[in-house]
Amino acid sequence: MPQPYLSPEQRPLVELRNVHVSFGSNHVLKGIDLTVRKGDAVSIIGPSGSGKSTILRCINGLLTPERGEVVVGNTSVHTLRTEAERIALRKRIGFVFQQYNLFPHLTVLDNIVIAPIRILGVEREIAEREARELLAKVRLSDKVDAYPGQLSGGQQQRVAIARALAMHPELVLFDEVTSALDPETVGEVLSVIRQLVEDGMTCLLVTHEMRFAEEVSQQIVFTEGGEIVERGTPREIFHAPRNPRTHAFINALRN
Ligand SMILES: Nc1ncnc2c1ncn2[C@@H]1O[C@H](COP(=O)(O)OP(=O)(O)OP(=O)(O)O)[C@@H](O)[C@H]1O
Ligand SMILES: [Mg+2]
Repeated sequence: MPQPYLSPEQRPLVELRNVHVSFGSNHVLKGIDLTVRKGDAVSIIGPSGSGKSTILRCINGLLTPERGEVVVGNTSVHTLRTEAERIALRKRIGFVFQQYNLFPHLTVLDNIVIAPIRILGVEREIAEREARELLAKVRLSDKVDAYPGQLSGGQQQRVAIARALAMHPELVLFDEVTSALDPETVGEVLSVIRQLVEDGMTCLLVTHEMRFAEEVSQQIVFTEGGEIVERGTPREIFHAPRNPRTHAFINALRN
């Protein structure tokens, strides 16, 4: 079938088609189809072990699916052959994890400028100016010279977000970034992500924060057993799920 013409704005930024991944005999992704348009926030929800993190790892080339296609912008990720090509892809994709993985011996500012300087070749002065702007954005201007060990978990996670943004990514992947945080610092991290989405950054989030997912996302995807069982708008998924498994998952979280 001929593909309809799509302008660059209409073309999805991320597209997965029939993606399969196995670890040995464990078939963990069983034909994932997923589309993320530029500027959209898409949240992946689902039980532990259902394949959420594996989906993210296919998108940034940390894993190569044994079947199916992964496209990010103009790059066919599934056809990349060399580590150099995959590293080039990863420069374009921010990835924020549950563990912040900041360098403990570097200040907040140096944690943010190190990759732009070393990997992108940005001049230190320019990188620092931009890092300060990003720190203002994540409301940590007063922590420029602090070390990670002097910050709360929520503050460290906001530095990790600023560090990802310093690379000017085309999209940012978030994998349960608030799961390790004290309840009182979760909100400040979510509000930084909310601002990012409002600013138009394309975001793909794996999250257990259902109210947040409902509030910020254009699309919600529910995974179970390596499949996307249901997808839809937040209203559809959270208030009128069609699949009984989605219904059971959401109900269990509410109780
Ligand atoms: N590197 C690996 N080697 C072997 N098995 C793996 C590997 N990574 C993931 N798996 C398996 O793949 C399945 C999906 O894992 P994945 O981490 O994607 O789940 P998840 O939905 O992110 O779960 P959680 O909510 O607990 O983070 C699980 O059965 C897991 O044990
Ligand atoms: Mg996971």
